[in-house]
Amino acid sequence: MPCSPTAPPTPAWTSVRVAANEDDTARLAQALACAMREDPTLANALLTLRGDLGAGKTTFARHLLQALGVTGRIKSPSYALVEPYSLPAPASGPALPPAWHADLYRLDDPREWEDAGLRELFATPGLKLVEWPEKAGSLLPMPDLDLLFHHEGDDTRRIALTAHSPRGSALLAALS
Ligand SMILES: Nc1ncnc2c1ncn2[C@@H]1O[C@H](COP(=O)(O)OP(=O)(O)O)[C@@H](O)[C@H]1O
Ligand SMILES: [Mg+2]
Repeated sequence: MPCSPTAPPTPAWTSVRVAANEDDTARLAQALACAMREDPTLANALLTLRGDLGAGKTTFARHLLQALGVTGRIKSPSYALVEPYSLPAPASGPALPPAWHADLYRLDDPREWEDAGLRELFATPGLKLVEWPEKAGSLLPMPDLDLLFHHEGDDTRRIALTAHSPRGSALLAALS
């Protein structure tokens, strides 16, 4: 049997959560933040946030950044495409990397990707939360964790989380 020089790719692993209200979505974000605070290498993750308008992508991103210690206003990055955040060092434990929250809804031309500094950003360590990743086509690397939000009615959201890397799998494992 021929030897394989590379490890087989990590199989995608999906976990589905139902958030009955925004507090449930906040708790999911807090659990992920907790895993990142315990192991800051997990905070060097690319999280893609998909779903229709109003599905809860920005709300989730806000709760995650707040749970990581961001205290100022967390505005929707639709116009600027990307908002940077520095994550305060926890009272105890290792420091966290910087974070960026991007909304690519208005990205229409690949040149904007360069102009907005997104190529450098995705080559830099740190947490990246990206709404409307579909708009970037193949420019965006494979996410560590993809979250697909579905509006089930009223305040209920179904959130399918799919890990695409060992880092994403570790984040998913922290939820179970
Ligand atoms: N379970 C829930 N999870 C997330 N948001 C919720 C939930 N229930 C109600 N909401 C509300 O739905 C809206 C979601 O808006 P937003 O996060 O901006 O959506 P998106 O970024 O996907 O367009 C917010 O007003 C939020 O308060
Ligand atoms: Mg949004």
